[in-house]
Amino acid sequence: MHFKSTTLAALALALSSKASPVHQETGRRVSFHRRHAMTDNNGWFDHDEVSRQVIRTHNKHRNNLVNLERNAGREAFNEGAEIKPFMEHHPVERRQAESLMDEKSDTYWVGKMTIGTPAQQFTIDFDTGSSDLWVPSTNCTMEACAPKHKYTPSSTGVNLDHAFYMYYGDSSAVHGETWSDTVSVAGVKVTDQPFSAVTTITKSLAAEATDGILGLAFPSLSTITHPQSPFVNTAKAQGSLEAAVFGFKLSKPDSPSELYLGGTDSSLYKGQFEYHPVVGKTGYWQLGNGKVTIGSKVVASDIQTIMDSGTTLIYGPPDKVAALYDAIPGSSLYDAYMGYYTIPCDASLSNVAFNWGGKDWMISAENFNAGQVGEGFECVGAVVGKDFGLGKDTWLVGDSFLKNVYSAFSFDDNSVGFATLK
Ligand SMILES: *[C@@H]1O[C@H](CO)[C@@H](O)[C@H](O)[C@H]1NC(C)=O
Repeated sequence: MHFKSTTLAALALALSSKASPVHQETGRRVSFHRRHAMTDNNGWFDHDEVSRQVIRTHNKHRNNLVNLERNAGREAFNEGAEIKPFMEHHPVERRQAESLMDEKSDTYWVGKMTIGTPAQQFTIDFDTGSSDLWVPSTNCTMEACAPKHKYTPSSTGVNLDHAFYMYYGDSSAVHGETWSDTVSVAGVKVTDQPFSAVTTITKSLAAEATDGILGLAFPSLSTITHPQSPFVNTAKAQGSLEAAVFGFKLSKPDSPSELYLGGTDSSLYKGQFEYHPVVGKTGYWQLGNGKVTIGSKVVASDIQTIMDSGTTLIYGPPDKVAALYDAIPGSSLYDAYMGYYTIPCDASLSNVAFNWGGKDWMISAENFNAGQVGEGFECVGAVVGKDFGLGKDTWLVGDSFLKNVYSAFSFDDNSVGFATLK
């Protein structure tokens, strides 16, 4: 048979998207700096820092639910979801001087991107748990903005004449004007990308090594609604990405981590992907029919899981998390308000897993350990019992899980896949 080359190319594309949800080796790499979140350099649990992160996580997801309600209505919520009050701060004084840290380390997976013409460079947290892009504005005169890169309107910038407001708690908010401009991440360039240039940033964000955030979740979680188009979606719509797919490898501070845009990076994983459909209308990368196990014991089944690269730990319903730690000898509740538990540091705990109907995806003992406390014989576990209002039987699955796998997020197939890291 004789095909014209254009027909062949179209056919190949159609076939490859049938055969595998992910187009490989056509994308671009963003490498990340180290992340060093929950412990200081000596491996001690940093109670204050982690609690700040819990508060931020709570308020981030509260913002998401407010956006979702406005963009898609309450019917898009998970069963049992509710917009909870802001979480402000830990009600009790710091328990003891766990933190030996006197210098903030990177809290997020940060990589580079540019905005404007000519390109202005920013250091960004790539977040699958939100959908907006924001960076500091040149108009930000706060001390918190001083060390950060700031956006100056460029020749391709257009003021969209809308206010952007996002509250993070701890008396701090992020707000500013909404703009559109050319945005480029690892050579993937889009024009007219809406984003916010913020004039106020929170104290807690000031200490971080990032300038801003690039959200990788679905448009219905966007604060920016004019228009509502997160970066990857804009890139697909403009043809700058062949596939609206991205892959993550998040690893320990000393080994390379990467976001791969437009597919998955086969040099970083082995074997087949196990894909699961995104369920619900929440705008999150949410998978259904999940299960949490420890050894042969099923701790929770038929759960919803929201995959969030912008969250450090794993959060589950308090009763289910209590059942998980019940199955770990020597564990105990450490901070009832925050939902932290301790486990013996020497527990060779490597049998906690998530399962979505395929294989068991294990959390390594190292990734289950969020750092030592007390005399150093107890360590905080990476699974926290806290309800952010995201829904009944809904778990928020952050980096303590994602570090164990190579993950792929596909807007094209509305699915999330996991593969074994090389
Ligand atoms: C900074 O403020 C000026 C004056 O209000 C305004 O015209 C400009 O658009 C602002 N720049 C940014 C990046 O928001």
